[in-house]
Order: sequence, then structure tokens, then C-alpha cells
Amino acid sequence: MSDAPVTELSTEIARRRTFAIISHPDAGKTTLTERILRAGGAIQLAGNVRAKGERRRTRSDWMSIERDRGISVVSSVMTFEYGGCIFNLLDTPGHEDFSEDTYRTLTAVDSAVMVIDAAKGIEDRTRKLFEICRLRDIPIVTFINKMDREAQDPFELLDEVASSLALDTSPATWPVGRAAKFVGTYDLLTKKLHTQEELPQSDPRMIQLAEELELAEAALPQFDREAFDAGHLTPVFFGSAMKEIGVTDLLDALVSFGPSPRNQVAETRTVKADEPAMTALVFKIQANMDPNHRDRIAFARICSGKLTRGMRLLHTRTGKNFAVHTPQFFFARDRQLAEEAFAGDVVGIPNHGTLRIGDTLTESENLSFTGVPHFAPEILRRVRLDDAMKAKKLKQALTQLAEEGVVQLFRPQDGAQPIVGVVGTLQLDVLQARLKAEYGVAIGFDATPFSLARWITGPRDKIEIFAQINRSAMADDLDDDPVFLATSAFMMRRTQEQNPDITFHDIKQIGIEIK
Ligand code: G4P
Repeated sequence: MSDAPVTELSTEIARRRTFAIISHPDAGKTTLTERILRAGGAIQLAGNVRAKGERRRTRSDWMSIERDRGISVVSSVMTFEYGGCIFNLLDTPGHEDFSEDTYRTLTAVDSAVMVIDAAKGIEDRTRKLFEICRLRDIPIVTFINKMDREAQDPFELLDEVASSLALDTSPATWPVGRAAKFVGTYDLLTKKLHTQEELPQSDPRMIQLAEELELAEAALPQFDREAFDAGHLTPVFFGSAMKEIGVTDLLDALVSFGPSPRNQVAETRTVKADEPAMTALVFKIQANMDPNHRDRIAFARICSGKLTRGMRLLHTRTGKNFAVHTPQFFFARDRQLAEEAFAGDVVGIPNHGTLRIGDTLTESENLSFTGVPHFAPEILRRVRLDDAMKAKKLKQALTQLAEEGVVQLFRPQDGAQPIVGVVGTLQLDVLQARLKAEYGVAIGFDATPFSLARWITGPRDKIEIFAQINRSAMADDLDDDPVFLATSAFMMRRTQEQNPDITFHDIKQIGIEIK
């Protein structure tokens, strides 16, 4: 058990704010992130704020694909202190493809800030990311950005968010002035005016504000903490990341009501964040971050208690002990030993492949957290190796990268070349680039006849017979769980109808046997 006094523990945990920013590309996520870090006097900067120009090259050059395409492919964490709280901002990938990485990152946060472009309203990718948050009832704070430009009317924007996402909206601030005359905000919760210049009451902007506030307070829902915590209501902030308007409103609100670490559901019970015993969930693995070291970092979110450097932990998937000698607050190329970390914090744990995504670490309890799934891939490709001499190396590299979650790997039971499965095509580019850069293996992709993959479960004898009959369509995944590959949705449906004893799964919980 951790030796932290209970009061210290609960105070430390209560001041953690672990969140992500979600948005459609170009809505202003990078700008807002930079402003937030600046406001928070960031104690650490990570490599994956998609900084432009020189900053991008210097911070993220370990991943050439990221540099070439100007996108942030991997996510990392930024920690800073503001208003007495410790903020952990987890960066979500900014590219168009939905990836499992995004989903997993969102499993590790307690709230999300949804950035919307004031002229464009809700866009595709915002909606998609929002749906992921909703699946987990993650409380959402909305930041309507670019109010310094021509924008939609605030009432319309609030209405659009409410109706298109089926989410109650409550204005937390109100814009003072519009477009070029946007000078600040009025905080409806604290009743304070924050403007970049003094405005007399006779200023047309103040007159407009008074009129709109009257209407807003009469017609729109008030902030309701319970509904927010349950993910049913979003407080809405107006601002301009570029002009640094509304950014501290947002941070102050996160300090005052941003959720502290949530309870985490495990297979056997729900773990409360302020339980004294430490538990942690691995939600991301990243290998070869430093090409000179060939190390592998598991990003673990502390779910309860306090982690102290040197602790001996139980790795519940294997039942083995695991000593955490060098937990790190990990930021792109900068690492700093984490002497202690509390529930809500994210630490990097260097290891040699022992830790996998979805793994749970505890002080002694046999516990497995749920909620880190694998999704059935939507794209399947056979890997083509140009240099046959490198077959062994390829096998090892593919396994490592699949363990890291870059792609899913399926080994056909008939011994054919491995098949990789991805949810978005960008993952294939990442795989190809990393195999070349980190392992010196050049590969191509060939089409496969298959378009769908499903994990199968059922009575052992029935699975065996099924696998024999369908040998050319059977594969094993990384954990040696059987997977059926179908050539079409029609074929999949027919196979399901013909095999009522077998269940076909399109989601697999990692780290937990599917039963
Ligand atoms: P993203 O990470 O969501 O993709 O968006 P990013 O912050 O990169 O912002 C996209 C563009 O919108 C950038 O312009 C940025 O300067 C601009 N922007 C962000 N916030 C605001 C805001 O509050 N007001 C206004 N008017 N613009 C904003 P760019 O021309 O693409 O890049 P840059 O040349 O400015 O770096």
C-alpha cells in the first residue's frame, strides 16, 4: 500500500485535471494548445503539439512521416500547473483517419475540450470524436474559437451544437463584440467581465451584451454540474485562441469544475481514484521513440492511489511481478524521472515488450481494467517483402509494431504471408515508413480477397471444426486468438447463419480473454 497519508493522497488526486482537446482540423486545436500551455507556464512541452515550421522540426523530428506530412500521427502528454491544479493534456492525433490510438487516448482522460470554428460550426471530425467521448460519457467543455472573425450568431451556434450532437448546451461565457470588434467575454458563472480594453456602458457592444444576456439567461439552460459530469450537458465558452481571448475562462472553469480523476471500471469491480492502493492502465505503447535506444515506452494512466519510483507491481495479465524503477514523465525527447505520480497522471514506463496495451498494473490485487478495445479492421492487406532474406526481421518488426498498436497483425493458419489490418489507410503509411526507418525492412502491400475480420468464440470443438472447414480464411491474431476473414459482408452473414454455435465479434477487449 502507498505510504501517502490519506489526506495528501485525496488532495493530490482532487487537483488533477486530465483532458484532451478534440476538433476538426483547422478549428484551432494547435493554437489553443499553445495558448493554454503558455497560460499555464507549461512546466513541460511535448513533441506533438503540431507546431508549425521550425518548432515542428525540432520537437518531432524523430518521426519522419510526421515531418513529411505535417501531421501529428502519435499522441503524447503535456503537463502543466495552473490555478493550483496539475493539468495533464493528452494530445490526440490530428489527422483525418479515425484510429484506435485516438480512442485509446480518450479512454485515459477525464474530460475533453471540443474546439469549434465559429464560422463553420460542427464539422465531420468533431462529430466523430464527440461520438467516441459519448460512448464513455466523457464530460465535454465546448470552446467556440475564432470569434475574432466573421462568425455565426452565438444563439445559432449554441443551437447547432445542441441539435446536431443531441447535447444540452449552457453558455458559460458570452462574447463581447463580434469579428474585428470582439474584445472579450462576460462570464455567466462568475458574473465577471473580461475585456482587453475598458468599455463604457454606452459602448454599442455593451448594449448588445446586455440585451443578449437577458435573452440567454431566460431562454437557455443554466449550467448543471451533475448533467455535465454525466456527459449530458456542455458548458460553452466563446473566444479567440489567436487573440488570447477566452483561454483563461476555459482554464479557470476546468480548475473550478473540470472533473478530477474518474472511477475506472475493471472486470471485477469499479476502482475509485482515491483508493490508497495504486492501480494503472496501459493505454499506449510506443517503441523506438529514441532511435539510439530502441526502447519501448508504455504510457500508463494511474487510475488510483500513488505510484512511487521503485515500486514492485503486479502485472495482472501475466501474474508476474514488475518493478517500476524508472517511471517517467515523458515528453517527446525530454524525459524526467517521476519520483511520484498520482491518479490522473500519465507516466511512461520503459520496458522490453512485457507491457501491452490494455494491461493493468496493481500493488497486489488481481484486477483487469476494461475499456481498451481493438476494433475489427476495415482494411486488410497482405504484406509483400521485397528482400526474402529479411523474413525473420520482418516477422519480429511486425510483431513489435502490432504490439504497439500501429496495425493489427493476422497470421493465416495456412501459412500464407501475414495480413495486416487497419482502421484508416494512414496507418499503412505509418507501418511502411517505420519498418523502413527503424528496422531497415522495405515492404509493399498486396490486396487480399478479404474485406472483413471477426474474432470468433464458442465451444472449443465447434471452433476446431469451423477452423478446419474454413482453413484458408482463418488467421491468428497477436494473442493467438482465432480470427475469421470474410470476402464480403454477404459471405460473413451467410457464415454466421450457418454456424449458430459460433459468435463473431467486431470488438475485442484487449488484455481480457473474450469469452
Ligand atoms: P488545428 O490544430 O485545429 O488544425 O488548427 P490550428 O491551430 O493550426 O489553426 C488553424 C488556422 O486557424 C491557423 O491559421 C491559425 O492561425 C488559425 N486560428 C487559430 N485560432 C484562431 C483564432 O482564434 N482566430 C483566427 N482568426 N484564426 C485562428 P493558418 O493560416 O492555417 O496558419 P498560420 O499561418 O496562422 O500558422
